Amino acid sequence: MASVRSNNSTESLKRNFSDDNRESDALFAKKQKLAPHRKSLPIATVENQLVQEVWKHDTLIIVGETGGGKTTQLPQFLYNAGFCGNGRLIGITQPSCVAAVNVSKRVAEECGVKLGETVGYSIRFENVTSSSTRIKYMTDGFLLREAISDPSLSRYSVIIVDEAHERTVETDVLLGVLKNVQRSRSESVKLKLIIMSASLDARIFSEYFGGARAVHIQGRQFPVDKFYTYHLPKAYLHASLITLFQIHLEEEAGDILVFLTGKEEIEFVERLVKEKLKQLPENSQKLVAVPLFSSLPSEQQTQAFTPACPGFRKVILATKIAETSVTIPGIKYVIDPGFAKVHFYNPNTGLEPLIAVPISKAQALQRSGRAGRERPGKCFRLYPENEFWKLEDSTKPDIKRCDLSNAILQLKALGVHDITRFDFIEKPTGESIIKSLEQLTLLGALGDDRKLSDPVGRQMARLPLPPIYSKALIKASELNCLEEMLITVAMLSAGSMFFTPREKLDEARTARKRFENPEGDHLTLINVYRASDQFLENRSGLSRENHEEKFQKWCKKYFIDSCSLRRAREIHSQIHEGVEQMGLSFASCGDNMFQFRRCLAASFFLKVALKQSDGQYRFLTYDPANELVVQIHPSSVLFGKKPECIVFNELVETNDQKFICNTTRIDYSWSTELAPPRLKKVWERHKLPWISNCR
Ligand code: CDP
Ligand code: MG
Repeated sequence: MASVRSNNSTESLKRNFSDDNRESDALFAKKQKLAPHRKSLPIATVENQLVQEVWKHDTLIIVGETGGGKTTQLPQFLYNAGFCGNGRLIGITQPSCVAAVNVSKRVAEECGVKLGETVGYSIRFENVTSSSTRIKYMTDGFLLREAISDPSLSRYSVIIVDEAHERTVETDVLLGVLKNVQRSRSESVKLKLIIMSASLDARIFSEYFGGARAVHIQGRQFPVDKFYTYHLPKAYLHASLITLFQIHLEEEAGDILVFLTGKEEIEFVERLVKEKLKQLPENSQKLVAVPLFSSLPSEQQTQAFTPACPGFRKVILATKIAETSVTIPGIKYVIDPGFAKVHFYNPNTGLEPLIAVPISKAQALQRSGRAGRERPGKCFRLYPENEFWKLEDSTKPDIKRCDLSNAILQLKALGVHDITRFDFIEKPTGESIIKSLEQLTLLGALGDDRKLSDPVGRQMARLPLPPIYSKALIKASELNCLEEMLITVAMLSAGSMFFTPREKLDEARTARKRFENPEGDHLTLINVYRASDQFLENRSGLSRENHEEKFQKWCKKYFIDSCSLRRAREIHSQIHEGVEQMGLSFASCGDNMFQFRRCLAASFFLKVALKQSDGQYRFLTYDPANELVVQIHPSSVLFGKKPECIVFNELVETNDQKFICNTTRIDYSWSTELAPPRLKKVWERHKLPWISNCR
C-alpha cells in the first residue's frame, strides 16, 4: 500500500512539476512576444531620462498622450531601476476598477509572471496580490482606505497617481493626503510621488505641488479625420446605429468604438445591432458587438480587449471609461454622440442622480484620439461642428459636483477634523461640505462635535461602501437581520438586476412574478438572490463551463441580468468577509420580513417618501424647504400599488419627471420612531402644514 501511495505522489509531483514548467514556458513565450511592442512605444526611448528624473525629484508630473506607455511601462522601469528596495512597493492608482484589472493583467504578461505575483491589483471587492507583489495597481479609493490603517503608507516607496486629469473625488482627496504623507516621511524613507495625466495642462498639478517638475512625453498619434452631422440628431442612439452600419458596410477593415452613456444604452444598442445583423446578407454579418462598462464582470470585460475572429469586425459599445484609462487595440473608427453621464449632487436633497450631459472639448479630443493609435483613423461626431465649439474646454472636477460624504468620512478617519482647511487641489463648495457633514452626523458616523464616532463611524469608514449602505449593515446587525441586509446591499451595489426588452414587456413581468414580494423591491431582490443560491447549489457538481451556461440560461428565463447577479454574488462574498472581520453579529430574521422592513426604515431614513392626496409622492428631506415631488418607477413592484409611505434607494430623472427606484413599503410611524431625534424634530415640525394633504 505504502509503495503505491508513494508512487502516486511521485507521479503527481512530476505532473505538477511539468504543469508548472508548461505554465512558466507559456508565460515566457508571451513575454517574448510582447517585447518588441514594448520597445516600440514612445516612452521606451526615454526610459533612462525618466528614471533619472524620478531619482532627482521627489514629485514629478508626467504628461503624455494616451497609449504612449505611461501606465504599463513606467512602473516596470522603476522596478528594474531598483525602486523596490527592502521589499517596498510601487503603487499605481487608477480611477476605475476596470482600468486597474485590465492594466495589471497586461503588465503581468509583459513581465512574464502570473498575475498576483510580482504584479497584482487590489480593487474594492477583489485583492489579487501576494507577499511577492512589487508593482501594485489599485483604485484611488483603495489606496485612500489603506492610508487609514497605515497613515504613512509605509509599504510604498513610489506612488503613481495615474489618470489624474480625470479628477475623480478620490483622486483629488488622495492628492491632498499624499502631499501630507510625503511631508511626514523622514529623509531615509522618502516617498516618491508621480502624477500622470493625459491632458496637456500640467500647470494645475505642478502649482499644487509647489512648482513640481513636469515632463512631457511625445505621443504617437496618427491623423484622425473628423466628420460632423449637419444637424443635431433627434435620437442619438438611432444615429449611432446608422453610422455604425454605414462604417461596417462601406469602410475598410478596422474595429469601431462607440461612446454611449451607460449600461442600459449599451445593452439596448447591442440588442439592436444583433437584430439588424440578422437582416443583412450572410457575407455582411461578420460584425460582433462587445459591451464595456465599469460594472461588467472582469471576465466579460476581457472580450473588449481580445481581437475578433479573423474576417470579423468588432464594435465596442463603451462608456467614457474607454476615453483614456483603458487601451483597446484595433480601433480605427470612433463614433461620438457627445454625451457622458455624470453624478450631480444636489446638496438640498442629499441625492445624486446620474445625468447625461454634453462632454467637454478635452473629452471629445480624447475620444477622437482613440481612432489614431495604430494607424490613421476616422471619428464621427454626431453633432454639427459649431456645437463642438460651444462645448466647455475641460470637464468640471467631480469634487465640485459630487456627493462628498464618503470622501469626508475617509478624511475624518485619517484624522483631518477641519475639512474646510484641508489642502484640496480645488476646494469643494462650503455648502456641499456642510451638507455632507450634516448627512454623516444623521447617519451617526460623526458625533455632535463632528468628530468620527466610535465604533459606528470607524466601522463605516472601513467598509468600501457608500456611508448609507455601511450604516444599513451596522443597523441590521443590531436588529438581527444582517443576512438579509447584506444580500440587499450587494444587490443594490451591483447595478440593475432585471432587463426588460421593450417587445417582451409582459413576458418579462410574468417571468419575474415568482420572485416578487408585494411589500417591495428590496425583499424581491432578496428572493432573487436566494433563488440563485438554490439553483447554484443544486448544480454544484457540473463543470465550470456547463455551470456558467446553465446559470446564464436560468437568468435569461427570468429576465435577470446575469452580469449584475454574478457581480452581486462577488460583492456579497467580499463584504461578508469585511463584515465578519468587524465582528458584526450575523443573524437572519427568517420569515419575519416585518423586522427587515423596520430595519430598512431605520437605515434609509434619509430616503423616505410619503403619498400625497393626488397619488404622487413627497420625498422628505432634512431641509423642509427642499422637498421633491416624485413618482414610483414603473420597474418597481410597488408601481400602481401606492402605499402610504416608502423607503427608496435611487432617484432617476427623465425630462421633467422624477422617479424613485428600489422602493419598499414601510409604516410612517416607524420612520418617525426609528429616525435620529434631530431628523424627527424637523419632520414633526414640518409635517403640520401639509400632512393633512397626505393620505
Ligand atoms: O498610459 P498610456 O495611455 O500612456 O499607455 P498604456 O496604457 O501604458 O498603453 C501602452 C500601449 O500598450 C498601448 O498603446 C497598447 O498598444 C498596449 N496595451 C495593450 O495592448 N493592452 C492593454 N491592456 C494595455 C496596453
Ligand atoms: Mg494610462
